[in-house]
Amino acid sequence: MTITVALNDGVVMPALGFGVFQSPPEETASAVETALRTGYRHIDTAAAYGNERQVGEGLRRSGIPRSEVFLETKVWVSDYGYDETLHAFEKATGKLGVEQLDLLILHQPAPDRFEQTIAAYKALEVLLADGRVRAIGVSNFMPHHLERLLDETDVVPAVNQVELHPYFTQPEVQRADAAHGILTQAWSPIGGITFYPGFGDERRSVLDDPTLQAIARAHGKTAAQAMLRWHLQEGRSAIPKSTNPARIAENFDVFDFELSAEELARINALDTGVRNGPDPDLPRIEAFARVIPEA
Ligand code: A2P
Repeated sequence: MTITVALNDGVVMPALGFGVFQSPPEETASAVETALRTGYRHIDTAAAYGNERQVGEGLRRSGIPRSEVFLETKVWVSDYGYDETLHAFEKATGKLGVEQLDLLILHQPAPDRFEQTIAAYKALEVLLADGRVRAIGVSNFMPHHLERLLDETDVVPAVNQVELHPYFTQPEVQRADAAHGILTQAWSPIGGITFYPGFGDERRSVLDDPTLQAIARAHGKTAAQAMLRWHLQEGRSAIPKSTNPARIAENFDVFDFELSAEELARINALDTGVRNGPDPDLPRIEAFARVIPEA
């Protein structure tokens, strides 16, 4: 059992994907292999995660045919620009060991040089037209970034992947995405960013939220499963990360229960409006300069 969504270019994508942000390279291949054996058919990685090669290895080790797996990756900011992004595609496919990507997205806007972000997106449009990628999109775009992109390019992004969990639901972003037929995809969908070390000390883990725990208990499920179900029922894609086989399985075991409209509303009401990850409007000089190695 799974849930799929049709992207705005007709490509069908499993809504629940498997994330590998902060998965150490040495653990990534076995995590991906476990995820695919568990039933996941959508993997989300990024050039900047430094583990594309191991994602490819996990895919091959699983024995699942390439054609049955939806592969998504992201171009990092240091590869923005038209030629640079065409080359970033070669780096990504080289590391993943595949010919074609199912979804290639820009990792975030470069607010200090938005014209390069646009040039990068124009390269994605060419890759799409050439059939080298099946869908293209963006990540961490706020409505004003989207407006500018839509004004200056031709293909409406299929996906906008943003920080989205019960403590930060970004209603304006969701509305802007929906208005343009862009699928909102949640990163840190179970709020890992609310407890990852190194992202600020005053955070509350969304996994400990009493409302979520009560809702989960009522269905004999965990808070993580309740959150994933919430994303799916709200029509979003979600890509929970885990390197632990039991939690990889737990996060996929979300197709046998249904939250009520009232429960969905109670989860939506948990929004604090406070972002945990980086502000997409602030340039991060050091991070943006990080060089993505050749394949
Ligand atoms: P681990 O890899 O050890 O399982 P997110 O995708 O929202 O950022 O969350 C990822 C974080 O949540 C990771 O620290 C991951 O650790 C942890 N995690 C993943 N699945 C679960 C789960 N079902 N219950 C509790 N923690 C989880």
